[in-house]
This record gives sequence, C-alpha cells and structure tokens, in this order.
Amino acid sequence: MNRIIECGIMKPSSRVMSLAILPVLRRKLAAARHLWRADRTLFLRSLRGSCRLYRVFSAPLSQVRSPEPVQGLTVRTLTDTELKEAVRSNPEISYQLEWLEESQEARPYAFYLNGALAHICWLLTPLHMPRRSLRLIPLRPGEIELGHGYTFPRFRGLGLCPLAIGYLCSMALRLGHRRVLVAARHHNVASRRCILKAGLRPCGWILRIIPPLMPSSRGLIIRAFWRK
Ligand SMILES: CC(C)(COP(=O)(O)OP(=O)(O)OC[C@H]1O[C@@H](n2cnc3c(N)ncnc32)[C@H](O)[C@@H]1OP(=O)(O)O)[C@@H](O)C(=O)NCCC(=O)NCCS
Repeated sequence: MNRIIECGIMKPSSRVMSLAILPVLRRKLAAARHLWRADRTLFLRSLRGSCRLYRVFSAPLSQVRSPEPVQGLTVRTLTDTELKEAVRSNPEISYQLEWLEESQEARPYAFYLNGALAHICWLLTPLHMPRRSLRLIPLRPGEIELGHGYTFPRFRGLGLCPLAIGYLCSMALRLGHRRVLVAARHHNVASRRCILKAGLRPCGWILRIIPPLMPSSRGLIIRAFWRK
C-alpha cells in the first residue's frame, strides 16, 4: 500500500499545514538517487531530456522464416535471478532490468550456445502491459512485440539475433499469435539489419520525446505506423 509522507509547515498564523508528498515523488527521488550512483552520464542526460526516433517493423508471424536447427543451441526463459546475475557480470545490459520491473509476466528468452549465454530477447504480448511507463507499441490482441535483443560480444556476427527473432516468432505462431512488431532505434544499423534479415518489413516510425527532468519511463510518444 502507498504511504503518504506528511511534513508540518509553520505558517505565520502558526497553523500547521499538512503537506502530502505523493508517493510518485518519493519514487522519482529514489530513482534519481539510484541513477546518480549507478550511471552519472545517464543521470545528466535525463536532466537534459531527449528525443528518440524509432523505426517500426512488422510481419504476419506466418511469413517469418522458421530458423534451421543449430547444433549446440538451447533456448529457455531466464529466471529473475539469472537475469540479475547476467546484468551483474555485464553492466552494459542493466537496461534489461527495466522490463523486469515494468512488464507484468514478460519474460526474457535466453539462447545458449554450447552452454554459454549468447543472446537475450524479450517477448511481450498484450497482457504484458507496463505498470508505470508508456508502451512504445500498444499491442492489440494476437500481436507480440520482441525487444531488448542483446547478443553478448563474443557471439556477435554469427547471425544469432535474426535466428532468435525467427525462433520466437515460430513459437508465438504455435501459441496462436498472428503478428509481430519490433521497434528499433533509428541509428541502430545492426539492429535494423537483424530485423530485416529475420523477414520483418518497415511499417512506420515512433518519436519519443522525454522532457528535461522526466524519468526515462515517461514522455510524449508520437506514433506513425501501420500494421501491414
Ligand atoms: C544488434 C545485435 C543484437 C546484433 O546481434 P548479432 O547476433 O551479432 O547479429 P548478426 O550476427 O546477425 O548481425 C546482424 C547483421 O548486422 C550487421 N551488423 C552488425 N554490426 C553492425 C554495425 N555496427 N553496423 C552495420 N551493420 C552491422 C551484420 O553484418 C549482420 O548483417 P549481414 O548478415 O547482412 O552481414 C548486437 O550487435 C547487439 O547486441 N548490440 C547491442 C544491443 C542492441 O543494439 N540491441 C538491439 C535492440 S533492438
């Protein structure tokens, strides 16, 4: 349950005015403190605000190629503890924890090559709505979103990312979903290349504007994409 913090302010009339500080403010301060300790550059960037442009890609799941079996490759979901452990040993992927906190029930899928964690990719359905932030892509029934794909550096260039997209799309099709959508930062050439290689096609843009002093989970989202 949310607690309200109350402070007493002495007014000239010596009346005590109760000031209720909203729990959300408390959360923001805690997030700012955490960010300040964890990543000063990101903290300063969040003070400045930002403007991010995403390309959106989509395809009917039935049109995404199912990948050929790869020797030594196993796939399973990661537990929260395993994901936190992976983040601890590779702080570059700390953003992966965002979706763990934000998305109800969403799961990261882990692709192991000969027993080593090689790639992570998240699969979201319309049920996986975030608790606090705004969804970049509001999913409709029958749609899935793939995101936060990450190939560990020593496994890059092996085609794992398109393979993961193909694998998760085949799995989602078997589970009765019909369409996949993916958003990639416009400047992320490698990511866009992977998505195209997996068989998705560009279908529009999303612009996300985060005003100064706003936490990264909020902001204004302008969507211009279609489902084809
Ligand atoms: C993007 C990423 C997932 C690609 O993973 P990967 O498993 O190495 O993918 P691939 O081996 O299939 O390479 C994908 C394609 O991108 C190309 N590519 C890779 N890095 C590139 C770069 N810096 N610039 C341009 N193209 C690049 C590859 O040549 C390949 O295309 P090709 O097969 O036509 O030659 C990986 O680089 C990564 O984890 N990056 C950091 C996280 C990230 O940006 N994630 C995307 C979130 S949507």
